[in-house]
Amino acid sequence: MKILRTRLEVSNAMRLERSKNKTIGLVPTMGALHNGHLRIIEKSKLYSDITVATIYVNPTQFNNSSDLDNYPRPWQTDLRLLEVSGVDYVFLPTDGEMYPQKVELKFDFGHLETILEGKFRPGHFNGVGIIVSKLFNIIQPDHSYFGQKDLQQLAVIRRLVKDLSYNIELIKVPTIREQSGLAMSSRNVRLNEEERRTASILYTCLTYAKDELLKGQDWLVVKEKVTAIFMKEPLSNLEYFELVKSDTLEMTSDLQVEGLAICTAAYIGDVRLIDNMIIN
Ligand code: PAJ
Repeated sequence: MKILRTRLEVSNAMRLERSKNKTIGLVPTMGALHNGHLRIIEKSKLYSDITVATIYVNPTQFNNSSDLDNYPRPWQTDLRLLEVSGVDYVFLPTDGEMYPQKVELKFDFGHLETILEGKFRPGHFNGVGIIVSKLFNIIQPDHSYFGQKDLQQLAVIRRLVKDLSYNIELIKVPTIREQSGLAMSSRNVRLNEEERRTASILYTCLTYAKDELLKGQDWLVVKEKVTAIFMKEPLSNLEYFELVKSDTLEMTSDLQVEGLAICTAAYIGDVRLIDNMIIN
């Protein structure tokens, strides 16, 4: 595994691989790797000839400076995990390398900015758009892999690829969960024991809601019941629990629509968690 620190090192390495007709798979991450990340890498190793993982905690997508400061950065462990997973290259840039100057360009992803994560984290998707397009331009992958865990991020990146004509195939990888159902997340290490137990409420409510919907229950009734379950749990604070179209993330209460998902975000203690479940 080669560790690359600069854009120049990346473009030289990628040029060499492309000259050998190798396809390049990109797995962007912010590190603090868990099995969700590793599953994405596994997928890339199956589908692309060369796998490039990136580790970069991107400041422009954090709309809360304490979240940025508290973001775990166990680089040495991460590098060992990547090495064992058989990643070919890791791009581990500095802030100066990614942001040699302040970015003035702004992305506006339309309605995706006004709902769910867009609404609760203003500016977040602009930061994601900036960093992901920088990585696309620097690495120029054939394929790029993203987790279903961040369903709205995937919708944003799908728009980015279409609107800016990137010739990159996006590949979605299903959410990997703890035994309790809690979706794996780099932020989970910040949960204490009691919070971790409580955190499975997101999965429990998603599963409950899915079952009720499949039985034909009305969405608004289900949502009210779920809101009441969260209200009873003092360590939790629900931000949203919404039924959406899984490709565009438009909200709906129409169960006849094909491709529905439920998306949720909640604080457990002071850790903000998100999760989602595909319904049909
Ligand atoms: P990060 O949170 O590190 O996630 C990197 C990738 O792992 C994303 O595609 C995310 O959806 C996926 N992922 C996270 N948890 C997962 C799980 N439990 N199961 C499956 N996949 C999971 O998402 C980001 O970083 C950043 O926004 C990034 C795209 C790197 C841009 O900075």
